[in-house]
Amino acid sequence: MRAYIKGLGTFVPSRVVTNADLAEKMDTSDEWIRQRTGIVERRYVEEGTASSDLGCAATKAAAEDAGIALEEIDFIILATLSPDRFFPGTACYMQAKLGLPGVPALDIRQQCTGFVYGLTLAESLVRSGGYRNILLVGAEVHSHSLDFTTRGRDVAVLFGDGAGAAIVSPLEDGSERGILAHALHADGRFAEKLCIHGWDISRDPYMTAEDIEAGEQYPKMEGRYVFKEAVTRVPQVIHEVLAKTGHSVADLDLLVPHQANLRINEAVAKQIGIDPAKVVNNIQRFGNTTAASIALALADARAQDRLHPGDLVCLAALGSGFTWGALTLRW
Ligand code: ACO
Repeated sequence: MRAYIKGLGTFVPSRVVTNADLAEKMDTSDEWIRQRTGIVERRYVEEGTASSDLGCAATKAAAEDAGIALEEIDFIILATLSPDRFFPGTACYMQAKLGLPGVPALDIRQQCTGFVYGLTLAESLVRSGGYRNILLVGAEVHSHSLDFTTRGRDVAVLFGDGAGAAIVSPLEDGSERGILAHALHADGRFAEKLCIHGWDISRDPYMTAEDIEAGEQYPKMEGRYVFKEAVTRVPQVIHEVLAKTGHSVADLDLLVPHQANLRINEAVAKQIGIDPAKVVNNIQRFGNTTAASIALALADARAQDRLHPGDLVCLAALGSGFTWGALTLRW
């Protein structure tokens, strides 16, 4: 039995933050950000909005798209690196806000690869567990945990808030659609290359006033290292997942990469030799929305009539952990 994406929905907050807006807070410029990342603007939530709120809004859109009532959702997977609280899991908050008591709720923590890991998990649960409408959400509120001083400019300019959701269900029409293959990886030896160093549960207290003074509560990244890793690992894993079903890059109708940096996606496209017109990029409008980015890009492709029934699509990402992976599906 195959699993497929029955419905797709997204939500981004209405507040647009341009590069010029950021340049008022820190020493940066529209030119630097566009040249290095491709980003033109991103969305930020208003005070009082959490990742679960964005996730619920995207869920409602996905359920409507799938033609199901919220009550038909029978499993919730939420991918986020910006949970509402350290515990309990944000999927539990979402489940309560959606009014779905009793439905299992699972958080996963694979950062930018969260949507690919989540789809893989959802597919397995459909195949093995008999679930009929698994809700997978990627939701992030980055804007409340970034360093908006010049000290944090290398990271702060990259990220935006948003959410994407998919309803994953068993395919029952006998067609060739659905999730075909996946390839997942992680290498925790490089965890410190992109993480929040200040939060360290091996210490008591796990975060100190000195940490906060030094800005260690904010994400820190070795940008060049992560960049190199992405342009190496992502092409590898795309070839790996395609080989599992005897496909090649030439068979792909659409590549939907995680949106971390337009330059990364251009380099990946060049390396695998895919026509750039087949690569979806919308980082220009949303920045890096981490676990939400692939769903936002997939939904954009569909809205732009670039995604058609039967198309061979590859989703691919690398993120903090490091985690990386790719998944192929027939739309
Ligand atoms: N504005 C202006 N100047 C800046 C900014 C900024 N926002 N940020 C850094 N600079 C400066 C640096 O201080 C440095 O100045 P110096 O030469 O005087 O020391 C100069 O620009 C170059 O800095 P680099 O960090 O070397 O710039 P680079 O070309 O590597 O670009 C970037 C930085 C955009 C972050 C890039 O490395 C990148 O995209 N890395 C990968 C990001 C990524 O893929 N993240 C993974 C996913 S995220 C996740 O999983 C959560």
